[in-house]
Amino acid sequence: MADVSAGQNTRKPIIAGNWKMHLTHVEAIRAVEELLDRLRPADYGRSEVVVCPPFTALRSVQMVLASHEDAGVALGAQDVHWESAGAWTGEVSAPMLARLGVVYVIVGHSERRQHLGETDETVSRKVAAVLAAGMTPIVCVGEALEERESGRTEERVSEQVHRGLGSFSPAELSRCVLAYEPIWAIGTGRNASPEDADATIGSIRQALARLAGDETAGTMRIQYGGSVKSGNIGALMAMPEIDGALVGGASLDPVEFARIVRYQAP
Ligand code: PGA
Repeated sequence: MADVSAGQNTRKPIIAGNWKMHLTHVEAIRAVEELLDRLRPADYGRSEVVVCPPFTALRSVQMVLASHEDAGVALGAQDVHWESAGAWTGEVSAPMLARLGVVYVIVGHSERRQHLGETDETVSRKVAAVLAAGMTPIVCVGEALEERESGRTEERVSEQVHRGLGSFSPAELSRCVLAYEPIWAIGTGRNASPEDADATIGSIRQALARLAGDETAGTMRIQYGGSVKSGNIGALMAMPEIDGALVGGASLDPVEFARIVRYQAP
């Protein structure tokens, strides 16, 4: 087996809140202000902290972040279109997001794959657009319950990695973050065990190594997502392959999200 764990110590954890279709821009301002009140420079030193509000709140949240001198929270978006401009009613482009100060863009979330027509091909095009605009994609992969139960988890996530990311160079891949989100764990209160999440993330790293080489794969950050809370983040982060978390429901409460960011080893 390839040794792709060498970069483990250089991978700074990344904890991102995915607010999904929650919080008006007014509520989002309050939420991010409360979060900033609770976080300290040491928290940003240990992990990268990201919030991903809906499009309508990006500008408001960006202004709050810009007005707090020591705020180390980065701005993320939840989706993007692959073209930079054009007749695409209702869509938002990567240059528009970059101009707003967006640093991370979630691509290929399972809710978009399941309900909104996202495919590995559109994921690939969106990743290209995000990289071209100088931002970092957070590329989501994960298996459905029946795939897990029939023992196809590794095959499924490797296939998503190959189809979504197979056309990128090692240098481009090194600029990506991945998120392993088992579909059955999202919003269900049922998280993957730290051992299972670690094993699957290890197999995602092997799939990345086949595309980018061991060295690059060893430096890439792979988050876990799916019912992360303050009560389970410590055990997840103690696993060697898990480099952070993509947090949905629990990120809507700034007190709880701050506890997640300040996780302690179990
Ligand atoms: P959850 O969502 O934390 O509410 O399970 C995670 C996600 O979908 O990113």
